[in-house]
Amino acid sequence: MQPPPVHIGVTGAAGNLAYSLLFRIASGELFRQRPLVLHLLDLPEVLPALEGIKMELEDCAFPCLQDIIVGSDPYVVFDGIELALLVGAKPRGPGMERKDLLSDNGKIFQVQGKALNKVASKDVRVLVIGNPCNTNCLIALQNAPDINPDHFFSMTRLDQNRATAFLAKKAGVHTTNVHDVIIWGNHSSTQVPDFFHAKIGSEETEMVIKDRAWLEGEFFKKVQNRGSEIIKARGKSSAASAASAVIDCVTALYTPSDRVYSLGVYSHHSSYPIDRNLVFSVPCITTREGEWKEVPRIEWNQFLNERILLSEKELKEERELVLQLLP
Ligand code: LMR
Repeated sequence: MQPPPVHIGVTGAAGNLAYSLLFRIASGELFRQRPLVLHLLDLPEVLPALEGIKMELEDCAFPCLQDIIVGSDPYVVFDGIELALLVGAKPRGPGMERKDLLSDNGKIFQVQGKALNKVASKDVRVLVIGNPCNTNCLIALQNAPDINPDHFFSMTRLDQNRATAFLAKKAGVHTTNVHDVIIWGNHSSTQVPDFFHAKIGSEETEMVIKDRAWLEGEFFKKVQNRGSEIIKARGKSSAASAASAVIDCVTALYTPSDRVYSLGVYSHHSSYPIDRNLVFSVPCITTREGEWKEVPRIEWNQFLNERILLSEKELKEERELVLQLLP
């Protein structure tokens, strides 16, 4: 007998990122061919375009795609969803920081948090991709008091993948040989890509890349600023690589494994000395029971400590800017 379909909500569904994401989800890549229903949300003015995407999804005749619900009212579209991928938000342009989007985007996540609280499955998992994703995630979770705050996440997988690719290239190895790259803090230019605990093969990164100046300098800056570099080059923000990171992130979240991945999680129970009311990226694994767990006791040397505190400071400042959206 077939398992029941998994209901997946995607916001910003008529946008660029979603166009790279939806077909991969619908092809069965995310839940190993389990039947699924897509719930697609976007603004009323782009619903005609969204209808076109729905047609294209139907035309793929994907075996696991059972139904597609399309609309602009989150109270209708989110009904019964078990996974919410909150992509929809105004993207940043050249020269902007992600936090510059807070005043426009914060409200979206207030409304969507309330709607999730009311109509989504009580067990829903929520991944925020729309920027600034950590603080948007905090807004959504605080507006959804009946949903477990440990089910809300912000995405730093794109940063993890970028850091992995840079290290692999510098070391002259394939990306599959690079492990345990941790991104600490905010998905912003203050994020902390931790090469100290990353492994290349079974060795510490510094044993393979014997160029501390590059690791602390160019590598760090490249990861922190890659999103801006892409905006400068493409004239718009990353889409396909971000969609790929969503697939990697959700796969890791749902797959029991000792493999460490980075994820923005609610800090209320963190074992790290960070403010208790932030969404903060930390190293995680997924247990045999299928629950994510923070990896504790990773030591911060002085270099990491100074930078992680800066990222925490930025997140506190972002929180100050949206106090009126936090009940
Ligand atoms: C990215 O990192 O590429 C995205 O968050 C988009 C952006 O604004 O940089």
